[in-house]
Amino acid sequence: MKTAEVRQRFVDHFVRHGHEVVPGAPLPFDDPNLLFINAGMVQFVPYFTGQLEPPWSRATSVQKCVRTQDIEEVGKTTRHGTFFQMNGNFSFGDYFKEEAIAMAWELATKPIGEGGYGLDGERIWATVYLDDDEAIDIWRRVVGLPSERIVRRGMADNFWSMTVPGPCGPCSELYYDRGAAYGTEGGPAVDEDRYMEFWNLVFMQNERGAGPAKEGYEILGELPRKNIDTGMGLERMATLLQGVDNLYEIDETRPVLDRAAQLAGKRYGGESGPSAAESAPDDVRLRVIADHVRTGLMLVADGVTPSNEGRGYVLRRILRRAVRSARMLGGEFTDGSVLPQLLPVARDAMAPSYPELATDYDRIAMIAYGEEDAFRRTLASGTTILDVAVREAQQDKRPALSGERAFTLHDTYGFPIDLTIEMAAEAGLSVDQEEFRRLMAEQRQRAKADARSKKSGVASTAAYRELREHGPTIFTGYETLETESRVRGIIRKDELIEVAGPGETVEVVLDATSFYAESGGQIADEGTIVVPGSGSETRLRVLDVQRPIKGLIVHRVHVESGELRTGSEAVAQVDPEWRLSARQAHSGTHVVHAALREVLGPSALQSGSYNKPGYLRLDFAWSKSLDERTRTDIEETANRALRRDLPVAVRYMPLSQAREEGALALFGETYDAEVRVVEIGGAWSRELCGGTHVSHSSQVGALAVTGESSVGAGVRRIEAYVGLDAIKFLANERALVSALSDLVKVPPAELPDRIESMITRLRNAERELDRLRAGQVLQQAGPLAQRASDVAGVQLVTELVPAGVAVNDLRALAVNVRDRLEKSRPAAVLLASAADDRLSFVATVNPAGVAAGRSAGDLVKVLAQALGARGGGKADVAQGAGGKPADAQAGFDAVRQALLGAAS
Ligand code: SER
Repeated sequence: MKTAEVRQRFVDHFVRHGHEVVPGAPLPFDDPNLLFINAGMVQFVPYFTGQLEPPWSRATSVQKCVRTQDIEEVGKTTRHGTFFQMNGNFSFGDYFKEEAIAMAWELATKPIGEGGYGLDGERIWATVYLDDDEAIDIWRRVVGLPSERIVRRGMADNFWSMTVPGPCGPCSELYYDRGAAYGTEGGPAVDEDRYMEFWNLVFMQNERGAGPAKEGYEILGELPRKNIDTGMGLERMATLLQGVDNLYEIDETRPVLDRAAQLAGKRYGGESGPSAAESAPDDVRLRVIADHVRTGLMLVADGVTPSNEGRGYVLRRILRRAVRSARMLGGEFTDGSVLPQLLPVARDAMAPSYPELATDYDRIAMIAYGEEDAFRRTLASGTTILDVAVREAQQDKRPALSGERAFTLHDTYGFPIDLTIEMAAEAGLSVDQEEFRRLMAEQRQRAKADARSKKSGVASTAAYRELREHGPTIFTGYETLETESRVRGIIRKDELIEVAGPGETVEVVLDATSFYAESGGQIADEGTIVVPGSGSETRLRVLDVQRPIKGLIVHRVHVESGELRTGSEAVAQVDPEWRLSARQAHSGTHVVHAALREVLGPSALQSGSYNKPGYLRLDFAWSKSLDERTRTDIEETANRALRRDLPVAVRYMPLSQAREEGALALFGETYDAEVRVVEIGGAWSRELCGGTHVSHSSQVGALAVTGESSVGAGVRRIEAYVGLDAIKFLANERALVSALSDLVKVPPAELPDRIESMITRLRNAERELDRLRAGQVLQQAGPLAQRASDVAGVQLVTELVPAGVAVNDLRALAVNVRDRLEKSRPAAVLLASAADDRLSFVATVNPAGVAAGRSAGDLVKVLAQALGARGGGKADVAQGAGGKPADAQAGFDAVRQALLGAAS
């Protein structure tokens, strides 16, 4: 049975049992504790904790998950994959243990012809938490599972939490006995290869506190309701139903593995057989490739781009490990590209379940292939650094490369340690891995401390949560700019307070507000909140508006006058001018996005945006810079759309319908089941968006593109002014051009030619001037040479030449004079020139002088000392600066004395 079918049967089964199908969330989920979604329940946490009211009491989903803690184990054991899919059914205070167990059993064992998975019930085992007699009773009574196949296990195995504070509960897991070929008899506690876990049923009823990840943490209490969270490993079930050994061999991953083996000229399982405990290195590499290529594909598809930190780093590491493993396999990978060969195979294998992989492939490919290119460059520069380190170690006769070098290569050049070890070994060297590991551990420690400090921000949301319990803030800002409301709470430094006085800056939550909180790239509204009081009116200036937790709008305000009290009346007043400009900017962003896609094609998809009154910028997937013509084209297309006066319409609809209608969504954003779709000119621009917009495109006024630049691999940024600011920008440019035209005295159209020719003439004139000056200086060389006198057997010339000779010219002159002196005898020339009452000086000694032990460097030092200046250099030429022109002669005398002294 194909994986897509396993997935569909799951969903159908739970729909039959009254569950709502909820789309899985994007992998990069907005949770400070998580890099990526790692379980199906993650998007439902607020429903379990009671923070939000669930829209349904039963739900089912298929969730993409990425876990990378065990990345080093991928391929070595066959249980670890970095990407997997979790099918889940969830109950929010609806059914509990008995129905959850019965429904799981039904689907697992129902014959294939009747829509089930047709597993042999005799081979299924269940585990339960130590004291969960209720679950044991259900397994026996409802399912008829014999006691021998029900195993009690401890907290580490059978009490599930997200490893951080949040919902948790005892669980019961289903295992399938794959038979003697896979290992020892005795149940899951004995051998988890033979007994493969395929489904975890969590009885989500408690809340956990901080503490160790899996075991020994504090249980804070009960959740408001008893819930169910189950997770069936889609790949595990596919493995069982396809009769293959492991998740690298199912229909969604095996094609990549096969193609890689073919290109490398290797046979998978050829050396050791896939289930051997010690797999052959090439088999491990093939599995790493199959896993990582797919994970990379899914991450890029969900909007992650490679970078050096956080999520981007995980992606970078995964893609590079895939490329690296392929190169180590050899064959066509030795010099050929890897991802362009394998990523399309992964796409074709996954597209039946994720059609966007095919439609969005151009963008995905651009980013992934770009990363492979970057890695090749890294390999090239890292190799040079490694070569230097190897040479140094060999010269110093050290048997190993230092761990520090290996760490720098890893940390700065992204050079994997196994590569360093291998390449060092080729040169007969080992690597100090202990030191390397110590440095890595130190770095991890730093990263953890960093994460902890970030988490403390999460703790401070307690005050927000308390306010949120009274319901969501009602946002009235789409309809009106002024809203009468009530002060629900005031927060100062994370604490709820009753009163705030003049001059204070605090956070305020109202029951309803017209203020737009920063989101979707649009910055927060500006304006005031007033409290109509008996005496002096209380006025608050709104500095910022955010939505720190779902459903709660928080204003950061400065109390300008009066006193603010919790519970009092308040009127939220958004500055209308501000809002109009904000609407222009946000609609302008959609127009530019649509224009980009019209000119460049649909792969130029927005990855982020920012807009504020008068200005917008938009980041989009594209790998080349845009030439002038393309930029003008985009600008014109956008302005034509404004002139066409396209209607702007807002519609609410289910997420699935929005997707069907081709509405563009931002990667990495989570959307509710019902979404807001903003259209400009119908399908011309259709985006999921919560922002505020004009009602006709002409109201944007004008758009002026001001720049285009790179903001990372495969991502470009376009910037523009909107409305009056666009006009002002253009007016400024015009004023600049006319000022230049007045200055240069040609009409604007002739400016570029004229300025170019002026620059050329200026450059030529400067060159000519340099040549003349140098020639003039050198004319003094002859007369100077004639002034040489003999001092202690050295032909010596010392001279303060006319002021203003640059030091380069002075040096050329000194050397020229020196070379005119007799070559067979020692000669020394010292010249000085003044500029701004300060000397530059140069000394030079001919080869005969150097051979006789004279040194220009020494002479300059003597001169510098006498002048109170600084200087130095080599035996043949040296120079210095400082000292007064009036002291030059005294300085030369000191040099003369030194020569005489040294000779006597
Ligand atoms: N949350 C549980 C798990 O991840 C079951 O869905 O295993």
